[in-house]
Amino acid sequence: MDVKQQIEKLRADLHRHNYNYYVLNAPEISDMEFDGLMRELQELEEAHPEFADPNSPTQRVGSDLNNEFVQVAHKYPMLSLSNTYNKQEVAEFYERVRVGLEGEAFEICCEMKYDGLSISLIYDEGRLVRAVTRGDGVHGDDVTENVRTIRCIPLQLNGEGYPKEFEIRGEILMPWSSFDALNKEREAKEEPLFANPRNAASGTLKSKNSSVVAQRKLDAYLYYLLGDEVPNDGHYENLQAANSWGFKISECTKKVTTLQEIYDFIDYWDVERKNLPVATDGIVLKVNSMRQQRALGYTAKSPRWAIAYKFQAERACTRLNSVSFQVGRTGAVTPVANMDPVHLAGTIVKRATLHNADVMEQLDLHIGDMVYVEKGGEIIPKIVGVDTSARDFMMPPKAVFITHCPECGARLVRYEGEAAWYCPNDTACPPQIKGRIEHFISRKAMNIDSLGPETVDEYYRKGLIRNVADLYDIEVDQINGVGGTREKSAQKVVRSIADSVAVPFERVVFALGIRFVGEIAAKILARQFKTMDALAAATEDEMLQINGIGKVIAQSVIQYFANPDNLELIRRLKEKGVSMELSEEAMSAQSDKLSGKSIVVSGVFTLHSRDEYKTMIEQHGGKNVGSISAKTSFVLAGANMGPAKLEKATKLGIPILSEEEFLNIIE
Ligand code: IVH
Repeated sequence: MDVKQQIEKLRADLHRHNYNYYVLNAPEISDMEFDGLMRELQELEEAHPEFADPNSPTQRVGSDLNNEFVQVAHKYPMLSLSNTYNKQEVAEFYERVRVGLEGEAFEICCEMKYDGLSISLIYDEGRLVRAVTRGDGVHGDDVTENVRTIRCIPLQLNGEGYPKEFEIRGEILMPWSSFDALNKEREAKEEPLFANPRNAASGTLKSKNSSVVAQRKLDAYLYYLLGDEVPNDGHYENLQAANSWGFKISECTKKVTTLQEIYDFIDYWDVERKNLPVATDGIVLKVNSMRQQRALGYTAKSPRWAIAYKFQAERACTRLNSVSFQVGRTGAVTPVANMDPVHLAGTIVKRATLHNADVMEQLDLHIGDMVYVEKGGEIIPKIVGVDTSARDFMMPPKAVFITHCPECGARLVRYEGEAAWYCPNDTACPPQIKGRIEHFISRKAMNIDSLGPETVDEYYRKGLIRNVADLYDIEVDQINGVGGTREKSAQKVVRSIADSVAVPFERVVFALGIRFVGEIAAKILARQFKTMDALAAATEDEMLQINGIGKVIAQSVIQYFANPDNLELIRRLKEKGVSMELSEEAMSAQSDKLSGKSIVVSGVFTLHSRDEYKTMIEQHGGKNVGSISAKTSFVLAGANMGPAKLEKATKLGIPILSEEEFLNIIE
């Protein structure tokens, strides 16, 4: 055997042992033997770099290199499921399927709804070539490097029965045991804890450092095989086939035909799920035949052939010890209950949100009360009631809302129509400052993805940044070594901050974090006023003339620009070269080609997202409308346009344009 063959044999053996251990849970060799084989392979690979392979089992340890995520388009959009909360709604789904299939017999595949984050894996010739997060359903982040480190995801498939190219989707999860261990570790290091395994899995998968992912022990269940050449018509059968190729498939999955069997599955797993090693938040029901799935089709958001049944929230009773108050990024103050620790849906709960002052008042909470805690959708627990019968006759003190900010001492204010109390000291209150910086660097704003909340916190604590303009003054030497940043990463941070000046003006407007100015409002304002100076000088009346801008936004914009600190900030950003006006390109993208036209956008798109199409319509003077009427000029239709809409458009003789036709018009 020559070296190449030796390497290939070791790789094949290690892939198999990995599968036996992580997927089948049935190792054939000891851990020591496994480590020995791995070491042997590592040594050979080191000595022969010409045979390197990113899918080698040795690559599962990840690397410290800072990887950037590139956004890629999904071949098929990643839709979500519509939810049901009781058996009646499940029965309605079953009936819709029966009617939709015109009485033809059908099977339902019952599965657990795993509570992690969805992933799309692409295989070519049996090798993992790409892993993409759901993202907005149309585009996701390429997280291949990180996914390679998840042991139960096969890098090389077994046997030969798999299609040449296919996609398989599933859920990436952090098992309860890894989650508990991780939070314990973080608690010891005084790092912020993850609220639930889903957040932990998501934070981990988005880590820029794949060796972190490798250490965190993620798990994955695959639940949908798609492609042009899937082996069977049955979804369940496809999953079994995928299992034989090396994928981890849930063992809880069951094929049934009657409604009663579905109910039995729900009842059984509602209890039994508590013994599973990972978090679940419901059950998924899928019509098994892919042919029948195609016949039933999709609505704009979800398939008609599947549905999720969400489990009822779990409830526990414990003692309320105190109420503390947290100040969020926007200055909103959230009351948090501190309670005696209690077991709830797989974790120990000590804190619960009380939402706002009104909720606190309605609950009529007194310190020392026995309170009922629920985990709505298994996320952040909340207090849903008080056991008043357990109250002492000597009524303990009532829990009251604070009047001053616990972070900076400013007197709290309440804005008209809002439930929350706010700390108005937005320029000097620490969580607000950090929150604004985090917003500024976020993906949809300046997209400075070499920074994250933890680094912002570090730099803030070191006094390096007090506002977003300070980011542009950071020098490599100042951050080298801060919070474990190495020189290479420090250079990358400085470079990506410098690169962000090229971000288009509309995103700069969004990045400023003007209260109530979201992504869409920012776009509208940027297009309307074209420069920051014009926006800063805009009057309330001028803004109210604009479609999509209401009083709350207009007043907030005025207030923002009335603050000299903000004007100074903008002056500094401008000095650093941040875009302060609409680009030539964006200006020329505007026209009145669609002026006077009312347009309905429906279906799932591939070339641009639905929101992008809506923006284009506005840019070209058209109006987006929600439903079809005789006044509709045309429908811009993607795949799977709803049949009701299609029928209505046809009946009224309204033209239906494809993506390409639409783009031709506005070209
Ligand atoms: S099927 C088109 N099956 O639930 C249908 N989804 O809103 C695609 N999920 O984002 C989903 N367990 O991440 C399916 N057994 C399962 C699932 C599952 C969890 C997640 C998935 C999706 C969300 C549905």
